[in-house]
Amino acid sequence: MSIIESNLDEKRSFSPSKDLKTNANFSNEDFLSLTKQFKNDRNKTWADLANSNILWDKSFSNVISGEAPFYKWFCDGKLNVSKNCVDRHISNSKSAIIYISENNEKKVLSYSDLYIYINKFSYALRELGLCCGDRVIIYMPTIPESIVAMLSCARLGLIHSVVFAGFSSNALRERIIDSRARAIITVNAFKRSGKIINSKEIVDEAIKVDCDFVDKVIIYENHTLLTNKKTRDVLWSEILPKDDKYIDPISMNSDALLFILYTSGSTGKPKGIMHASGGYLLNCIITNKWVFDLKDQDIFWCTADIGWITGHSYVVYGPLACGATILIYDGAPLFPHSSRFWEIIQENRVSVFYTAPTAIRTLMKVGENDPNNYNLESLRILGTVGEPINPKAWMWYYEKVGRNLCPIVDTWWQTETGANMIAPIPGINSLVPGTCTRPLPGIDAAIVDPDGKELTKPNQGGDLVIKQPWPSMLAGIWGNPDRYVKTYWSKYSSKYYVTGDTARYDEDGNIWIMGRSDDVVNVSGHRLGTMEIESALVSHDLVAEAAVVSYKHEIKGEAIHAFISLKNNSNNKIELADDLRGWVSLKIGSIAKPERISFSDSLPKTRSGKIMRRLLRNLARQEDITGDTSTLENESIIEQLKEIV
Ligand code: WT7
Repeated sequence: MSIIESNLDEKRSFSPSKDLKTNANFSNEDFLSLTKQFKNDRNKTWADLANSNILWDKSFSNVISGEAPFYKWFCDGKLNVSKNCVDRHISNSKSAIIYISENNEKKVLSYSDLYIYINKFSYALRELGLCCGDRVIIYMPTIPESIVAMLSCARLGLIHSVVFAGFSSNALRERIIDSRARAIITVNAFKRSGKIINSKEIVDEAIKVDCDFVDKVIIYENHTLLTNKKTRDVLWSEILPKDDKYIDPISMNSDALLFILYTSGSTGKPKGIMHASGGYLLNCIITNKWVFDLKDQDIFWCTADIGWITGHSYVVYGPLACGATILIYDGAPLFPHSSRFWEIIQENRVSVFYTAPTAIRTLMKVGENDPNNYNLESLRILGTVGEPINPKAWMWYYEKVGRNLCPIVDTWWQTETGANMIAPIPGINSLVPGTCTRPLPGIDAAIVDPDGKELTKPNQGGDLVIKQPWPSMLAGIWGNPDRYVKTYWSKYSSKYYVTGDTARYDEDGNIWIMGRSDDVVNVSGHRLGTMEIESALVSHDLVAEAAVVSYKHEIKGEAIHAFISLKNNSNNKIELADDLRGWVSLKIGSIAKPERISFSDSLPKTRSGKIMRRLLRNLARQEDITGDTSTLENESIIEQLKEIV
């Protein structure tokens, strides 16, 4: 039995202010009473929450059904998620979306503007012949039209799959084929850091061969660039009706799929994580209310791209279902200058700000004192997500951005969990830099040893698992039920949902995430499967073998070190390394580019022919080499592997 050791020790603690204790949406009394209710009758408590937070077209009698682990939530209830997000707020004359472009153009859409727009676009989609259950790929940057596209799909019961606009045509193609999408919605082009990205060309390339099942490509002309139209292409502006239309939101079963979102796994191709309607929406709503303390007058800026789960749950579905005002920025954080974020917060009086540790570290590096030059008084809650935040970055965020006044909610969750799972509640928990604190009410998390036994003492690291199903849990992996069971449920004889993360408690019972237990790296808050990057590398003509591991990186959290053996020796390793970085960008996207590359005659293997990953990890992390190396055929390759290009 091997327990992972932990030696980190953080003593600073920050208690909620008096104001938060009295005014937060969720008080300590609420917490105690809800925790008690969950203990007494779990299902009834979820049912009560679902009834008080969601607008049901037909109420449910069944809270949880289905055969484990294929759970269905609120199964016989009917609802429409788009109606929950927009229709029920149109009588409040308030802004739904504040949009800022990279060139600092600003557009504001009220809830009724959004409602009118969604109805028109839903009409257009229906006229194209798309119907309930069809898959639609959305390959767009974070602009109001992509939100309109998502919510129009939801209105019609179309299953959307948003693909991050920074992904290459190869990665896009894989997702189009796996989901057998009938339509793709994209832009002609968009700007990032002043550079033009030609999305439409990338789509054309992605579906050039064997994609006849794609009936239509819809192009929103987001840029003056001329669109090169093919027969299957239609322009957004052509299909959008001139007059207002009303499209009845379809009453969907609560377990009907709302979307598929692809995420990396440790082996093979990306997994199409499926989320259903009612359960997903419930956890999105309650966590926005509890963790972000979202109130009517708040302006919520979550900097995530809509191509990630954070963009789904904390830009679109959660905040809009709560009737909040969201801010979206379609641009790079450092463009055109390093204080862009602070400027946006000041100009738009952002009150709730949610971003990733990697962004915090970058901003801290480029302008440690920059926040001092802006009026950030509107801020009241700060959040982070995506990876553990190091205490130094946490303190900077707290002192410089939050002026020692704003609680930082460090939220742990995953694409698969749909919404925050372990996170502080601002009016209740004391904060300690670096920990995501405690599970939210109704979330039954535990840390277990390799035998599945619960570890309850402080500083014993083990697998983080969830012991009971929860409403926003994934509904499975698209087209691959076996992989769903194998990846998430098989490790502890189907008893627990296995997160793939390792964690420990501290003396106060706070949970500290220690890292991943599988071959997944976390670069700038995004999960990447090492297998995928390795497959991309070996598909290059000159590469024989490749192994990818991660090492600690000051800004990105983790960065990628690729170890490569070549088919033939190359004279110019520097040029080849650059070429390989370009190749990975092309195959997956630039976030997957190896920061460091080492070349050797062969890769170190065990007797059974497995690459010695642990050894490579030791090398990449400049640690002493642990474990047995006696089976190495050629000791001298260790020296070669230490050379970094
Ligand atoms: C993985 C999930 C959830 C949206 C963003 C990423 C890591 C996430 C935290 C946190 C430490 C975190 C975990 C998790 N992670 N949040 N607050 N502290 N680690 O979504 O791509 O599904 O990745 O991100 O390793 O398993 P994702």
